[in-house]
Amino acid sequence: MVKIIFRDHTGHDSEVEAEPGSTVMEAAIRNGIPGILAECGGACACATCHVYVDETFMPLVGEPEPMEEDMLDFAFDVRPNSRLSCQIRVRDNLDGLIVNTPQKQA
Ligand code: FES
Repeated sequence: MVKIIFRDHTGHDSEVEAEPGSTVMEAAIRNGIPGILAECGGACACATCHVYVDETFMPLVGEPEPMEEDMLDFAFDVRPNSRLSCQIRVRDNLDGLIVNTPQKQA
């Protein structure tokens, strides 16, 4: 299992275990993480799974694909480290990943 830490805008951490091959969004939903709505169920069509990837993990997580980039336009307060968590695939090398949840979703 891979450890993922969801940090809310107040700095509160929620640590969860995620299955490699699943997505960061699925880990959030399974564990009832507040602030991740995922209204489209992971189809890259709603932008309500928006997170900010911790800077230290950016090189590992990588850049969004063009389709995700387009959908990010609908997210609230987009930053250079913004990603849609349904598009981040959990891998062993992401163990300890920190993602920050935004103050509000789009
Ligand atoms: Fe809808 Fe990620 S769950 S875009």
